[in-house]
Amino acid sequence: MQKRYNDLVASINQWDYEYYVLDNPTVSDAQYDQSFRELLAIEAGHPELTSPESPSQRVGAKPINEFQKIGHSVKMLSLANAFSLEETYSFFEKAAKELDRSPESLTLFSEPKLDGLAISIHYDHGLFSYAATRGDGQVGEDVSHNIKTIKSVPLKLASNPPPKKLDVRGEVFMPKAAFEKLNLVAQQNDSKRFVNPRNAAAGTIRQMNPKIAAERDLQFIPYGIGEYEGDTEFKTHSQIIAYLAASGFRKNLHCYEFSGSYDAFAKNYRIMEQARAKLPMEIDGIVYKINELALQTTLGFIARSPLWAVARKFPPQQVVTQLLAVDFQVGRTGVLTPVARLAPVFVGGVTVSNATLHNRDEIERLGLCIGDDIEIHRAGDVIPKVVKVVTQGTDRKPIIMPGRCPVCDAAIERAVGQAAFRCTGGLSCAAQAAEHIRHYASRKFMNITNLGSKLIELLYSKGSIKSIADIYTLKLCDIADLEGHGEKSAQNVLDSIEASKTTKLGTFIGALGIPEVGEEGAKAIARHFKNYPAIVAASVDDIMQVPDIGPVMAKNVVDFFNDAKNRAVIAKIIAAGVTWQDGQGEAAQEKVLAGQTWVLTGTLSMPRNGAKAILERLGAKVAGSVSKKTSCVVAGQDAGSKLDKAESLGVKIIDEAAFLRMFVDVAK
Ligand code: IVH
Repeated sequence: MQKRYNDLVASINQWDYEYYVLDNPTVSDAQYDQSFRELLAIEAGHPELTSPESPSQRVGAKPINEFQKIGHSVKMLSLANAFSLEETYSFFEKAAKELDRSPESLTLFSEPKLDGLAISIHYDHGLFSYAATRGDGQVGEDVSHNIKTIKSVPLKLASNPPPKKLDVRGEVFMPKAAFEKLNLVAQQNDSKRFVNPRNAAAGTIRQMNPKIAAERDLQFIPYGIGEYEGDTEFKTHSQIIAYLAASGFRKNLHCYEFSGSYDAFAKNYRIMEQARAKLPMEIDGIVYKINELALQTTLGFIARSPLWAVARKFPPQQVVTQLLAVDFQVGRTGVLTPVARLAPVFVGGVTVSNATLHNRDEIERLGLCIGDDIEIHRAGDVIPKVVKVVTQGTDRKPIIMPGRCPVCDAAIERAVGQAAFRCTGGLSCAAQAAEHIRHYASRKFMNITNLGSKLIELLYSKGSIKSIADIYTLKLCDIADLEGHGEKSAQNVLDSIEASKTTKLGTFIGALGIPEVGEEGAKAIARHFKNYPAIVAASVDDIMQVPDIGPVMAKNVVDFFNDAKNRAVIAKIIAAGVTWQDGQGEAAQEKVLAGQTWVLTGTLSMPRNGAKAILERLGAKVAGSVSKKTSCVVAGQDAGSKLDKAESLGVKIIDEAAFLRMFVDVAK
C-alpha cells in the first residue's frame, strides 16, 4: 500500500510537472483522473499515509481568517526603471565605471519583466514550507494557501540532494488566456471584471479561500533566489536560473546572455518588442541583470533597488484611431455589450480593430460618438480600452442602444439601478440558449453528468438542441452521429438525462438561469414559496418577502414567468417527466383536473404529447373527439371540425397561449 501510494504521488507530480511546467502532457486525462482518484481513496482510508508532497495537498488548506505577517530573511528588492535605450545603457555605463570595466566587457542577462506580483517561496529540505508576498520588502504576508494551488510550483524540489534551505523569488501572474477566460465568466455572471491580468493575479492571491486560486490558472516563474543553504555553488545569475529549472520550476521565455554594448541592448529590445505580442503572458518591460554574482555583490544596492539590474519599461501602448461603428453583442446571460469597431491600428505588437465599451454608462462617460477620433490603450489589458475622445468627428453620430435584441428581436430592458441592458428573450434567444443549456445541465443544477459543455456546443451548433426542453427529445442518433461519440457514449448521455429528471424545486428554479438568481437565491425562493405554482403566481412584492432577495431579482423572476415562451419551455420539460420535491418534501402533483376530459386540436407549438402529458399529470383524460362531456378544447392553429363541433355544443374553447397560462393557473 505504501509503495503504491508513493508511486502514485511520484507519478502524478511528474505528470503535473510535464503538463504545467514543460507544457508537454504525457498521459491521458482519463489515466490522470483515475490515478488521482486512487490516491484520494488511499488517503481517505489511510490518512496516516498522506504525504506533504501529495498533489492532494495543493487545495487541501482551509480558508484562512487573516493574513499572517512574515519577515523576509533576505530583503525583497525592487528595480530601478529605465524608459529608453539611452537610460538603459547609461545605467550599465555607471555600473561598469564603478567596477572599473567597460560596459562591453560585462555579460548581461535579459529576462522578460513579467507583469504580476513578486512572491518568495521557501523550501525546507526540498519541501514546500511557505510563501509570502513582497509587502514592503522587509515584511510580507503569508499566502502559502494560494501559492500551493499553483501547479507549476513544485511541492518538492527535484534537485538531488535537496538544499537545506531555498527561498525562490519570482513572479506570480495570470496568463493572457486564463485572464480572458476569467473575465468572460465574470461577464456571463454579471460580476466585476478584472482590469488586467496583474490585478486578476493580485486579487486571486489576496483571497482567503484557496479554492478560488485553485480554479484560476495562475503561474509562477522564478527570477532569482533569496536565502540559500545547499551544496551548489553559483557564479552567475544564469546558473541560478538553470538550477531553478532543474529543481522543477518553469523557465522564463526569451532570456538572453549578451555583452553590454549599446548595439546589443538595442538589438535585444527590438527582439523583445517583437516577441511580446506572441508571449502567453503580459510583460511590461525587460529586466537586464549583470550576470556575474561577484560583480553584483560588489555593486550592492541603494534604497530598494540593486545597482546591478534595471527594468527597461515598454512605453504605454496608446494610439489614436477612428471609431467607425458600434455593434452590440448579446452575452450568454442576455447582457448587451457595445463593441467599438475601429479603423485598424497597430498597437502593442498587434493590429487592433475592436475595443470593448462595457456598457452605455461608459459611452456616456467618454462622450463618445461614431466618427470621433479616439485614443486606444493597450497596457496589461488584453482587450484594448477606449481612453478618451481626442477629436470629435465632423459628421459624428450618436451611439444608440438598440430597442430590440440583434439576435432574437426581443425587447431590450434595463433594470432600475443597473448599468446593463438585457435582452428579454430569455430561453428563446439563440445567443443565450447554449449557455442556458450548459447552466441547466451543470453539476450544480440538473446534474446531467454526461452532457458537458463541449457536447452541448456541438448539439447546439447542429440544431439538435435549441432550448433546455430539447434535451428531453434528444435521440440516440443525434449524439451517436457526432464525431468522437458512439452508441455507447450516446446511451450514457441519454441515461444521465433520464437519471437527472428527479430534482428539487430550488435546484430546478436555479437551473432555469433567471438573471441574477443564483443557486442560493433560487433555494431561498423555493423555501419561501414551497411549490412551483406559488412561485409562478408571485408578484414582485411577494418575492421581495424572501430573505436576501432584492427588487432586481424579484422583478427578473416575475418577468421570467410572465413570458409565455419561457412557460412553454417549462411546460415541455414537465411534460418530459421532470419532477421535483417542493420546498417541504415530495410535491404530490395536485390532480386539479381529475374527472375532466380535454381535447387537443389544431397545430400546437409544443409537441402534442407534451400538452397531453401536462393534462394527464393534472388528472385530466385526453380524448380524441369532442362530445357534450368534453370539459375543454385546446384549439391550436388551423383547428378544423373538432373546433366547429365544440362551438356548436357550447364546450369551453381556449387557445394555446391561454392553455399555457391556465396550466400555471390551474396548477395553482
Ligand atoms: S528581478 C533584485 N526579474 O518587477 C531584483 N523582477 O519592478 C529583483 N519582475 O518586484 C527583481 N519580472 O516583482 C526581476 N524577470 C524579472 C522580473 C521581475 C518581473 C518584477 C518583480 C519586481 C518588480 C520590480
